[in-house]
Amino acid sequence: MASPITCIEDLRSRAKRRLPRMFFDFIDGGSWSEATCAHNTGDFDSLRFRQRVAAKLAALDCETEVLGRRQRLPLAIAPTGLSGFIHGDGEILAARAAKNHGIPFTLSIMSNCSMEAVSAATQRHPFNLQISIFKDRGFLQSLIDRARALSCPALMLTLDLHQVGRRHRDAKNGLAVPPRLTFRHLIEFATKPNWAWSMIRTRHRSFGNLDGQLSGVQGRDAIAQWAAGQLATDIGWDDVSWVRERWDGKLIVKGVLDADDAALAVQAGADAVQVSNHGGRQLDGADSSIRALPAIVERIGDRAEVHLDGGVRTGQHVLKALARGARCIHLGRAHLYGLAAAGQAGVDQAISLLHEELRLTMAFCGCQSVADIHPGILL
Ligand code: FNR
Repeated sequence: MASPITCIEDLRSRAKRRLPRMFFDFIDGGSWSEATCAHNTGDFDSLRFRQRVAAKLAALDCETEVLGRRQRLPLAIAPTGLSGFIHGDGEILAARAAKNHGIPFTLSIMSNCSMEAVSAATQRHPFNLQISIFKDRGFLQSLIDRARALSCPALMLTLDLHQVGRRHRDAKNGLAVPPRLTFRHLIEFATKPNWAWSMIRTRHRSFGNLDGQLSGVQGRDAIAQWAAGQLATDIGWDDVSWVRERWDGKLIVKGVLDADDAALAVQAGADAVQVSNHGGRQLDGADSSIRALPAIVERIGDRAEVHLDGGVRTGQHVLKALARGARCIHLGRAHLYGLAAAGQAGVDQAISLLHEELRLTMAFCGCQSVADIHPGILL
C-alpha cells in the first residue's frame, strides 16, 4: 500500500514516480548550479519563530484581502507554462482546485489550455493572466483584449523572462525548441501509464493561447520558435507603462528582487510587485525571494501590495513570508507536484496541506487571524 501523503515533499516523490524524467526535471529543476532554487527554500528554513503560549485564541481564520478581493487563504497559484504536459488539461485542473479553495489562479501565457478553455471549464470563474513583453505589440494588445473580454481581474506582467536561464537538466533531457525525442523517451512515456493516459485523452497539447492566433505560424514547434523569438533584452519601464495604459484592471509586476526596481515598478503603475526569481530558473546566484522581501516591503509597502513566490513548500514558509510583509504567496512547484501526483485532487491536496500547516503554525505563534501576523513573530 502506498504510504499516506502528509506534506508537499510526499507529493514531490509521487510526482517523480508518475512523470517521465523529462517532465519531472522540467518542473523540479533550476538554472545552472540550481543554487538560487535551493536557497529559496533553505533561506525560509533558517528563519525561526517566536513561540507564544496561552494566547486565548478563538477560531483561527486565514481569510485575507488581496488586490481588493476577499480570499479564503493568503495563497495563489503561480503561472507555470506547459502544465498541460504535467497532466492532461493541467491548467484547467489547477484552476478548478484554486476555485474550490477560494484563491486566485494565474494562467501562464505559455499554457497548453487557452484562456478561453480555462474560462469555459471553470464556469467563467475569474482568473488572472500572465503575460510577457512580446516584441509583437499587436499580438500583446490582442492578449490584453482577450483577458478583458474574459473579465480577468489582474494581469501579471513577468519581467525576468527576457531571456531563458541555462537549464542543464532540460538540455540534457532533450527538452528544447523543438524537443529532441528519441526512442528511449517513447519507451519511458509508455512506462508512465497514468501520465500517458491523461496525455492521450486531452485535446490541449499545443500552446493554447497562441495556437491559431498567429498568421503564418502553425504547429507547436513553430509556435515555440516564434515565442522564443519574441523575448527581448531591450525592454524597459516604458514598456510596463505601455501595458498599464492599455489595462484598467489590476497589474502585478512579477520577477522583482531589487528595491530600486520595485520602486520603478510602482512608478510605472504596478498595483502589486511580486518578489520572485522565477523559482531559481533564471539568474542562478540571485538572492532568494524570502531574503529579498523585507527591503522591498520597506521601500514600497505603503504604496503597493508586495507578493512573493519561490521555495514555498510548507505552511510555515507561508507564515514566514506573511510575517516579512508579503500579502499573497504564489505557489509554483508546490501545486505542480500535486498536479503530477494526482491531477486536480493533487492540487487540492497541496493547497489543503499548506492551509492546515499555516493554521497550526499561526496557533503556535499566537496569531488568530492574518491581521495578527507581524515581523515580531520571527526571532
Ligand atoms: C514557472 N514559472 C513561470 N513564471 C511565469 O511568469 N511564466 C511562466 O510561464 C512560468 N513557467 C514556469 C514553469 C515551471 C515548470 C515552473 C516550475 C515555474 C515561475 C513560477 O511562476 C514561479 O515564479 C516559481 O515557480 C516559484 O517558485 P516555486 O514555488 O516553484 O519554488
